[in-house]
Amino acid sequence: MNNTNSNLSKWSVTSRLFHWVSAVLLLVTWIMILLYDNLDSNLYIGLHKAFGVSLLFWMIARVINRIFTKAPAPLAMPKWQLIISQLSHFALYAILIAMPLAGVLMSVYGGRPIDIFGLFQIPVFVTPDRGLARFYNDVHTDIIWPMIIAFTVLHVGAALYHQFVKKDNVMARIK
Ligand code: HEM
Ligand code: HEM
Repeated sequence: MNNTNSNLSKWSVTSRLFHWVSAVLLLVTWIMILLYDNLDSNLYIGLHKAFGVSLLFWMIARVINRIFTKAPAPLAMPKWQLIISQLSHFALYAILIAMPLAGVLMSVYGGRPIDIFGLFQIPVFVTPDRGLARFYNDVHTDIIWPMIIAFTVLHVGAALYHQFVKKDNVMARIK
């Protein structure tokens, strides 16, 4: 009903698939670390790493998809909002790649290979170094994780604002 004219353009089918699978992988990776924090079982830290690495591969494929598919024309909005939305989309890509990379580096500098669902392993491809392992651990948990929370809250908040306050049917573009 409020689906007026310019709102009809959508993200490509592949972009929509990449979007929602990324969100689910992020959620699952997070739930695994919550379970690990609460139950202290090696099963969950292993799954945290394997899902996190899966998200890394998925995001690399997503960037390639983003380069080769056309984005729909943006919704009508003030220029500054458009710039913020594009910057925050870029930031979401960057941090969802940097996060698992920091995780991988923390593990291998800690001298631990990474098991991916029992299918294959990422070997220790660097000379272990406790200092660097600590550094990437801090980057992972104290720098990038708060950024993921902040940008995701901003992103979902903006989506809800568009959908329910501006009523410009933004969800239909990514559904
Ligand atoms: C419940 C959670 C989420 C909702 C409701 C949501 C909603 C949306 C909507 C409505 C759009 C379309 C914006 C437009 O057409 O201008 C969009 C695009 C986008 N979203 Fe989300 N999103 C969610 C989770 C996430 C997460 C966790 C990420 C982190 C990767 C993310 C990253 C992006 C990016 C990068 C775009 C731009 C399109 C692209 O390049 O794929 N979203 N999202
Ligand atoms: C986007 C993907 C990822 C997200 C969102 C994520 C998120 C998190 C979060 C929230 C924590 C808990 C921090 C805390 O306890 O306060 C954590 C810890 C940890 N993550 Fe990740 N992670 C990801 C990918 C990875 C990957 C790929 C690896 C390794 C291959 C990894 C290894 C670890 C380890 C070992 C810890 C425990 C650190 C400690 O107990 O000091 N993570 N991660």
